[in-house]
Amino acid sequence: MIAILLTGMLAACGSGKTGGSSKVSVGIVLPTKDEPRWVQDEQRFKAALADSKYTTEILFSQGSSAKEKENVETLLNKGIKVLIIAPHDGAAAGAAVEAAKKEGVTVISYDRLITETDAVDYYVTFDSVAVGAAQGQYLIDNAKGKNVPLYLYAGAASDNNAFLFFEGAWKVLQPKIADGTFVIANSSEANVLKDKQELTRDQLGKILGQVTTNWEASEAINKAQTHLTGAAANLKGDVAILAPNDGTARSISDVFGSDSDISSFVITGQDAEKASIQYIIDGKQSMTVFKDVRTLVSDSMGMAIDILDGKTPATTGTYDNGKIDVKAKQTNVIVVDQENVKKELIDSKYYEASEFKGL
Ligand code: BGC
Repeated sequence: MIAILLTGMLAACGSGKTGGSSKVSVGIVLPTKDEPRWVQDEQRFKAALADSKYTTEILFSQGSSAKEKENVETLLNKGIKVLIIAPHDGAAAGAAVEAAKKEGVTVISYDRLITETDAVDYYVTFDSVAVGAAQGQYLIDNAKGKNVPLYLYAGAASDNNAFLFFEGAWKVLQPKIADGTFVIANSSEANVLKDKQELTRDQLGKILGQVTTNWEASEAINKAQTHLTGAAANLKGDVAILAPNDGTARSISDVFGSDSDISSFVITGQDAEKASIQYIIDGKQSMTVFKDVRTLVSDSMGMAIDILDGKTPATTGTYDNGKIDVKAKQTNVIVVDQENVKKELIDSKYYEASEFKGL
């Protein structure tokens, strides 16, 4: 499908990599190479573009909004017409995309929404509230008995998705906190709010402020160690852990796994990173939420091509970014655990069986 679109595009714009021009039609900016999640996106973009002469360039911002702005400027100087960008910090990226808009470039926010600006045209995303809800539901489905200690962790507060994930998880977990299935182990702010099913952004922000991992392994490890050191005996034993993504899940799992007072734990994740698939096979991570990056790549490139062709891209809804409602195309997610890992990730040819041990 994408190959056909790309060929059509090439005919339409007539400028290819081999055409001797240094022009780039579509610029792609990703947040960091330090997390396998975003290297996956790069690889999937490259795979989708391999057979075309379509001119794209991918730059990484390495967790810096300044570097991100510089990347956008580099791409503007190469004459891009469409910018596909996953911001490091959703609000700080406003300046970069406003610069792009001034040059008449169409801006597609990729996976993470750019907030507080009207300089975003489209948003291509997974259903992030559903990601959090799937994580919360998994903990509920696997909770045994009453008063199960629940350790909550979240992503970076500079990432709008971190709010959406937590919001989705909280909606399903809250009734189970209220009925005594779970006891919140590590957040006084969450405890204060435990009777409210709907949280405002400010309230979510208060909880995130306490349990953020900042999407960093080191922060996840520090927090998990601190929480376990401070935990009373009734908050140990068999526990449930809401970990926001695979990278932080592996770090938190390592910490909980080495505490002799923790008898067992159920821990969530997302991204289907290879290292976490191995953790799932080995029983060190309970689940991940598989977000098929191939779909996000083909949706965003399909949109870019429509724009370059002068067509209006199809969208499925809108997201409020604090300033405007951004037209969005949303993709569903799949829960993966030991039961279906082979079917969803190997049989679907997302990964190869040879990449894992003990499958
Ligand atoms: C993405 C996740 C990712 C996280 C950390 C989020 O915005 O949606 O897939 O794990 O950022 O990079």
